[in-house]
Amino acid sequence: MSVTQSEAAAGGPGLFGTQEVSAGTPHVVGRVEEVPPGEGRAFVVDGVQVAVFRLRDGSLHATQAACPHAGGPLADGQTDLDVLVCPLHLYTFRWTDGTSPGGAASLRVYPVHEESGQLVVTV
Ligand code: FES
Repeated sequence: MSVTQSEAAAGGPGLFGTQEVSAGTPHVVGRVEEVPPGEGRAFVVDGVQVAVFRLRDGSLHATQAACPHAGGPLADGQTDLDVLVCPLHLYTFRWTDGTSPGGAASLRVYPVHEESGQLVVTV
């Protein structure tokens, strides 16, 4: 797995929270191809550490980069179409709202979309 410059800069803990951020400013963080299907990559977006995921169905999701349980690197987590699994202690988080079926604190999720091949995250 390659590490982007943005990932290297995204090493520390991110924002902890429980609700999706619905208002904010859209930021281009890179090209869609920087996130291989089924994987995630970490970016710093306007000073906020964000993990962006491209699922195997092509859908995009963005979350805080650090796990709310103990700061695990969520961009390295496993994904399926419903949940993200943190690589450290395997808590799962729903893409829809960031809640954890296993009882961990909820994950902050951010709006993300593709625009002319670019990843746009609203923070
Ligand atoms: S740090 Fe993510 S589950 Fe523990």
